Amino acid sequence: SPLKIGLIPADGIGKEVIPAAQKLLESLPNGPKFEFVQLDAGFEYFKKTGTALPQATIDTLKSECQGALFGAVSSPSHKVAGYSSPIVALRKHLDLYANVRPVVSVPSPAFPNQRELDMLIIRENTECLYIKSERQEIDTATGLKVAYADRKISEYASKRVGTMAFNMALSRQKLREQKPMNQRFWKNNPRVTIVHKSNVMSITDGLWRETVRAVKENNSEQYGSVDMEEQLVDSMVYRMFREPETFDVVVAPNLYGDIISDGAAALVGSLGVVPSANVGDTFVMGEPVHGSAPDIAGKGIANPIAAIRSAALLLEHLGHPEHASKLYDAVNAVLADGQTLTPDLGGISTTDQVVDAILKKL
Ligand code: NAI
Ligand code: MG
Repeated sequence: SPLKIGLIPADGIGKEVIPAAQKLLESLPNGPKFEFVQLDAGFEYFKKTGTALPQATIDTLKSECQGALFGAVSSPSHKVAGYSSPIVALRKHLDLYANVRPVVSVPSPAFPNQRELDMLIIRENTECLYIKSERQEIDTATGLKVAYADRKISEYASKRVGTMAFNMALSRQKLREQKPMNQRFWKNNPRVTIVHKSNVMSITDGLWRETVRAVKENNSEQYGSVDMEEQLVDSMVYRMFREPETFDVVVAPNLYGDIISDGAAALVGSLGVVPSANVGDTFVMGEPVHGSAPDIAGKGIANPIAAIRSAALLLEHLGHPEHASKLYDAVNAVLADGQTLTPDLGGISTTDQVVDAILKKL
């Protein structure tokens, strides 16, 4: 039976890059059969209907689809009554507990000074400071405002995302063995780096650290070949900029993961090329890292590469790594040529021209 994929372009350039990704998925030589379903969500939809994420979108994804591709949402920076981000809600409804972001350098004239690296950042996606348990009150001692936020770290969430990190370390190793090209930048044993700050936050980060460590310690047969190291989050940032080539899989609690994954993207190019996937046990949602880019929306010049790589990540997590790999290779070949690039990469090409160039390489 075909793979049923929900398409949620949402706002701005999401409406341009998601159809581009769809076109490439449909054009994979000997690729899987797909059935695509168009689904509503976003700020524009909210302005028309008063809801940002209709129940029908959630129901269709849950009951009919194996995966989805999400474009981008515009979120107003002031508070709008009744509006909350559909992407955050979707992660919750579909229990997409890990945000996975590969950061790989690709030789290209568009990124002349990039370092050679091939890392995978896995960010816990459901808790930490992002549970949004905040409050503000008046401090009785000073008479001034004071605000607090709760931070949640659970053994349950830490264990499942830690397990994903060790599994991904093994599957990346397998891919490297199958495809020598993938061994360019990583020649060591598979490695998981656990990011934390348990020297200060000994209870929350302490629980995170112990739980992720225990994944390997309690499964030494399965994960014996994976090296495990730890890095405090501040020195993680330092090391990531100094020696990014020393990381393989990096696993972090939500807030730290959010920050280091945007920082890592700066090492390998522009927002327009960086993909991510929200992954759960039974559902995967690919999502370019960029936003709705109102400054260029509707002009036909959005870079489709982040969305196309997100589609490849989706395939990888739906059990089609060989097709994912073909897509990555075609994208990388276009970047390496440097002939067909959108303006964000210094080129003059349109979204459609980049799609056609990638299609040719496929
Ligand atoms: P943005 O990522 O939309 O744009 C930042 C800059 O990068 C802009 O100059 C834009 O033109 C450029 N850019 C981004 N993606 C591009 C692409 N594919 N091709 C070419 N250029 C690209 O971030 P910004 O401007 O901070 O936010 C705009 C809106 O997007 C806001 O409403 C924000 O809330 C939302 N946003 C949504 C995200 C999501 O849906 N996950 C993530 C980030 C922002
Ligand atoms: Mg972010």
